[in-house]
Amino acid sequence: MSISVVILAAGQGTRMKSSKPKVLHEISGKSMLFHAIDVAEQISDDITVVLHHQAKRIQEEIEASYTDILFHEQDVAQFPGTGGAMKGIKIKHTKTLILNGDMPLITLPALEALIQEDADINMSVITLDNPSGYGRVVILDSKVRSIVEEKDCNSMQKSIQTVNAGVYCIKQELLEKYIPVLDNNNAQKEYYLTDIIKMAVDEGKSIHPIMVKEEDFKGVNSKLDLAHAEEIMQKRIKTQWMNAGVSMRLPDTIYIDASAKFEGECMLENGTSIQGSSHIIDSHIKAHSVIENAYIQNSDVGPMSRIRPDTKLIDTHIGNFVEVKKSLLTGVKAGHLSYIGDAVIDEGSNIGAGVITCNYDGKKKYKTVIGKNVFVGSDTQLVAPINIADDVMIAAGSTITKDVEQGALALSRTAQKSIKNFFYKFFENK
Ligand code: UD1
Ligand code: CA
Repeated sequence: MSISVVILAAGQGTRMKSSKPKVLHEISGKSMLFHAIDVAEQISDDITVVLHHQAKRIQEEIEASYTDILFHEQDVAQFPGTGGAMKGIKIKHTKTLILNGDMPLITLPALEALIQEDADINMSVITLDNPSGYGRVVILDSKVRSIVEEKDCNSMQKSIQTVNAGVYCIKQELLEKYIPVLDNNNAQKEYYLTDIIKMAVDEGKSIHPIMVKEEDFKGVNSKLDLAHAEEIMQKRIKTQWMNAGVSMRLPDTIYIDASAKFEGECMLENGTSIQGSSHIIDSHIKAHSVIENAYIQNSDVGPMSRIRPDTKLIDTHIGNFVEVKKSLLTGVKAGHLSYIGDAVIDEGSNIGAGVITCNYDGKKKYKTVIGKNVFVGSDTQLVAPINIADDVMIAAGSTITKDVEQGALALSRTAQKSIKNFFYKFFENK
């Protein structure tokens, strides 16, 4: 594709009130900047991210996930502002799409017209009841004349409701010509990218304003904006999965991360939370269960259970109040109140109520391996590292510290004794 993309992400984001750079705040489990990069990757093979504030940290995070992103460090001291951000960037193609790192709701379809239309500049505009905060688009005789930033507006201009949404597609020759000659004669003493509109108008260039949806071009500046954007993103994610055949009971109460995946016939009950790159196939997740980066196939989980990262459940039944971590369960039943961590449990095995794998001694984690058809009685503690062979029975209430061989019954309890009439002696007057 012959279009370059520049993503502006040098701003500090003070209104987030956070030590974390604004563009690294997450929406549906993915940082805002990554949402923008993922869209850019569908458009271009030449993507530059402009950084300044906490540049190193952001660059490292990007490089851990993407291999083909270019970086440009803005000289903010000398050239602050969105125009300053564009100074000195090397562009490969004849057109450049300029995106913002804090616009996580942007989608490829929402950018289609901006990329396609054949003008010197395509610019995104929205009409808002309350335009405050945005640059106003001055249109005369149905032609764009300029963009005036709110702080530079006179009272007439302030009442303009057509605003700059902040995304543009600009011919390369215009950027090369106008960016070097931008000035900072304005209220904020910044180099405004938006000033190139007037320069282009003065030279008779064609400028197409393209009406876009506020929902797609929403900029996130505060924690409140972040929460609103998350709501929109969640609606989209859930709509997409329901259209793909996932059943959801009370979808407004369900949370799904952007990188979660479903296949076949899945059912999510109310209050479920599906996080990370969880992959769920033909399974039923019951009310208020939390699934974190797990693989679940042909299984049912919950209500109120937690399946933690690196867990694989296949043909397995997990009931209520069960926590499973970093374990592989195939054809297993664990119906109630258990902790299963660092375990491998094979077909036909039953984990009774209250069973605990004691996987941690305060220093290291150890493995529990349980074979086929093992019956683990209620309230058993399995002190790892431990191996339980096939066809074993473990008596309820046991603390198992040694491996158990195939076919055996293991039990570790103190013998029960009864003291006759103790009750009546103790409570003399009853
Ligand atoms: C900008 C537009 C405004 C538009 C609005 C839409 C300008 C001058 N104004 O205003 O017309 O209505 O977006 O949201 O462009 N950035 C840098 N370097 C900087 C300053 C900003 O990279 O020196 C980046 C920010 O990280 C952000 C983007 O540019 O991703 C926009 O910056 P922001 O300060 O939010 O611009 P606005 O004042 O909102
Ligand atoms: Ca902004």
